[in-house]
Amino acid sequence: MTVDLLLGLQWGDEGKGKIVDVLTSKYDIIARFQGGPNAGHTLEFDGIKHVLRTIPSGIFHKNAKNIIGNGVVIDPVVFHKEIEGLAKFDMDVTSKLFISRKAHLILPTHRLLDAASEASKGKAKIGSTLKGIGPTYMDKTGRNGIRVGDIELEDFKLRYRALADKHESMIAFYDVDLQYNLQEMEDEFFASIEELKKLTFIDSEEYLNKSLKEGKTILAEGAQGSLLDVDFGTYPFVTSSNTTAAGACTGLGIAPNRVKEVYGIFKAYTTRVGSGPFPTELFDEVGSAMAKIGNEFGSVTGRARRCGWLDLVALKYAVQVNGVTELYMMKGDVLSGFDTLKICTAYKYKGKEISHLPYNIEPENVEPVYTEIKGWQADLTKMTTYDELPKELKDYIEFIEKEVEVPIKVVSVGPDRTQTITK
Ligand code: GDP
Ligand code: IMO
Ligand code: MG
Repeated sequence: MTVDLLLGLQWGDEGKGKIVDVLTSKYDIIARFQGGPNAGHTLEFDGIKHVLRTIPSGIFHKNAKNIIGNGVVIDPVVFHKEIEGLAKFDMDVTSKLFISRKAHLILPTHRLLDAASEASKGKAKIGSTLKGIGPTYMDKTGRNGIRVGDIELEDFKLRYRALADKHESMIAFYDVDLQYNLQEMEDEFFASIEELKKLTFIDSEEYLNKSLKEGKTILAEGAQGSLLDVDFGTYPFVTSSNTTAAGACTGLGIAPNRVKEVYGIFKAYTTRVGSGPFPTELFDEVGSAMAKIGNEFGSVTGRARRCGWLDLVALKYAVQVNGVTELYMMKGDVLSGFDTLKICTAYKYKGKEISHLPYNIEPENVEPVYTEIKGWQADLTKMTTYDELPKELKDYIEFIEKEVEVPIKVVSVGPDRTQTITK
């Protein structure tokens, strides 16, 4: 069998968690392939609202197996809290959640290094979630990291100490005011490691490829979004992993020719949390209205998300880099009530109009060119079929499909599992 991918196409928080949950009934296995607890994937069903961080969004389904792949970075402390948070749902997590031995561990000192690095940058800070993501991936590519499989080794604590000591001297190098009690952080870390050990560690590339041979279906769940990809995003204002389709192959050990569908998730408008360029950002009452109606506050840090119009230049770029085969448009309901909507179809760049994403998209380099589309007033949240949707929304959808040349298969009209309309 083949693997399908589900990816965010913007700057994260597109609604990946909701859609993975909706799609899980069609899959045997849900596998996270990159990122870590910088992610916050929200699921809503039966009146329950739950945010997942490292655990794949298929966990609430009875039969699906959930894999945390080698490309993911795990903070045992956050992970333990996540597991505790699932206790009230009366599920046997150990029978359906498996962790790759090759996934890297986020150490307490990685979190401190993240904070020190951000503090040293002043205004130029990335706006990281401060979860230690950057420093952990730096240790991975620098070949210094500690992996989940190392927990099973006798010298795990020695390896930990050597790396943590090195980190402490690096923190001192930053010369910033950072208050912390490392002993307390380490006690919490090692207690959480004991909890982590209650789960099964696997050679996940072997598990997944064997499952494919047995005819099982796999959905790979991305975190963050394409514009936060370390190679293709708005560098340096990105995360430290490959969030795009290729990242699913390296983050799970699945060959490219095994990938079939690539589901691209995007919001009907755009949001971004943290620093970095955002050409269609709105600083007026329209942007504030989107933030308010869309409840645009980060699910991890609670920070207000910046809001703006849909950017088709960026969306086309993401579709191209990922080879998206189907689009899922999220939060259509949030755009109800605006008289006119704008869609960015090109940028003015160095005096010329361009329709591709250039190297620099800082506000001083690009000015969005907009097409105006008539808005709709109807409340979409109770609608269940495509036919019921207002004509203006269908026009909006058709405009996007024509520009991007990929069909929009699903329109999401609310956070709940049931508020999902298939075209
Ligand atoms: P993820 O990181 O991509 O999984 O997205 P987040 O969970 O961080 O953010 C998406 C937010 O939008 C969550 O609060 C969801 O409950 C909510 N959401 C998802 N789809 C819709 C939708 O169609 N309409 C509305 N109003 N909210 C939605
Ligand atoms: P999900 O999976 C939105 C952003 C941070 C910051 C930048 C780098 O929920 O969509 P990092 O902590 O990764 O070093 O931060 O990336 N960021 C996200 N923004 N959704 C996310 O995840 C994000 N994960 C990281 O705000 O700008
Ligand atoms: Mg999120």
